[in-house]
Amino acid sequence: MFVQRLAGEAYLRLLDLQDAGEVFALTDASRDHLRRWLPWVDFTRTVADSEAFIASSLEQFARGLGFQAGIWRGGTLCGVAGMHPIDRANRQGSIGYWIGAAYEGQGLITLACQAVLDEAFTRYGLHRMELRAAAGNERSQAVARRLGFTREGVVRDAEWLYDHYVDHVVFGMLEEEWRRAGRREGE
Ligand SMILES: CC(C)(COP(=O)(O)OP(=O)(O)OC[C@H]1O[C@@H](n2cnc3c(N)ncnc32)[C@H](O)[C@@H]1OP(=O)(O)O)[C@@H](O)C(=O)NCCC(=O)NCCS
Repeated sequence: MFVQRLAGEAYLRLLDLQDAGEVFALTDASRDHLRRWLPWVDFTRTVADSEAFIASSLEQFARGLGFQAGIWRGGTLCGVAGMHPIDRANRQGSIGYWIGAAYEGQGLITLACQAVLDEAFTRYGLHRMELRAAAGNERSQAVARRLGFTREGVVRDAEWLYDHYVDHVVFGMLEEEWRRAGRREGE
């Protein structure tokens, strides 16, 4: 299990089954905010659904295919950030995230994503990370730009969101780009 400090009292910690109640409560408190862009919200109806998500993410972690972590601040769960299962053959991964409505606009997601990218490019030795945001999800696209991703294109009708398709704007970051950005910050 890993813990990564972000800033101040904020940290990223691997989700565990005991967190299911908090993950569900945060989801439940932010339904309208989350369901606009995330396809699983309406299917998350009880704590058991959050538990099933965490169980599958722990299996993913155990198989070396990435992880899902809680974004915590002072012991309170604020959101979730992690990776979709890694494509090992091509050393590619994809980042995903959401934040509770009450914690939006405070920079927690940008910090958490930086930590996820660190893990992806160091611990997992990936070559490329992808970030997909729905066309129209301006806040998520702003996160990609803030992190230094390159906009690569649009996949049409890439995702079914309850009653309509959305296009995905695809952003990518290569390992050497991430390393260069790190060096710049350190200079
Ligand atoms: C997309 C989403 C995760 C973005 O969250 P967010 O809180 O806007 O993202 P950040 O944590 O990077 O915060 C950025 C904001 O904090 C501010 N900020 C404050 N301190 C900051 C810091 N240290 N670093 C970066 N930004 C900081 C920025 O100026 C920015 O402000 P703005 O709201 O005026 O633009 C959020 O809107 C969300 O959960 N949406 C619903 C689910 C979703 O769309 N998930 C992604 C699917 S692809």
